[in-house]
Amino acid sequence: MEQKKRPLKTLERVISKAGLGSRTDARGWIHEGRVQVNGKIIENPDHWVDMERDKIRFDGKPLERQDRLYILLYKPTGYITTYKDPDGRPTVYDLIKDIDSFIVPVGRLDLDTSGLLLMTNDTQFAERIMNPDFHVPKTYLVKASELLTDDQLDKLRKGVELSDGPTRPAKVTKLRDSGKHTHFEITLTEGRNRQVRRMVEAIGARVMKLVRVRIGDISIGTLPIGTWRLLTRPELTRLRQ
Ligand code: URA
Repeated sequence: MEQKKRPLKTLERVISKAGLGSRTDARGWIHEGRVQVNGKIIENPDHWVDMERDKIRFDGKPLERQDRLYILLYKPTGYITTYKDPDGRPTVYDLIKDIDSFIVPVGRLDLDTSGLLLMTNDTQFAERIMNPDFHVPKTYLVKASELLTDDQLDKLRKGVELSDGPTRPAKVTKLRDSGKHTHFEITLTEGRNRQVRRMVEAIGARVMKLVRVRIGDISIGTLPIGTWRLLTRPELTRLRQ
């Protein structure tokens, strides 16, 4: 009984949560013998540690919990939202080389989508923002492949049928028609894979350009493309609500 109440975690989880690297990195380091528990090298990533009693060292130094870090990155197109790409393409991590802690993207933007991406080492916060039950609104600017009728835009507002079910009602504002293209803004409260592109395809057009400009009420503002900034405390508080 006593055993169950203790805060036990796997060594792999403890190392990755300390903000040093991904869980894969952590497993590698443990296998390499760089991690000690109570003075003894432990090479098993699934070794249980007691957070209150055990003394963990990485490369001989006591493990310290990293401060929480929340950033907003203006992702350009051509960067994938993953840690490592087997095909060697640029990833969002190439844009944050000046950040020491290991942070993870809050959701994903497609390779060909640009715009606002939150990244953090606070996994609980990330899970909350991504959880569809919390309905955090995300706003995108869209350039369609053709001129769209009011009827087509209305369908996006009311919800369209996708292979993974109908979409929730969305806020859609037409910005302008220019030449052969309609530009509009759409706000979704769910975040399914390639959702905007699939919704536009469902009304018989294609997305030519897609930029995420807001999450909740946090805007990309004047942040230069390819750069990042820290979230301010008021922004964080508003997102948490
Ligand atoms: N919807 C898409 O289709 N792609 C994105 O990257 C984000 C939302």
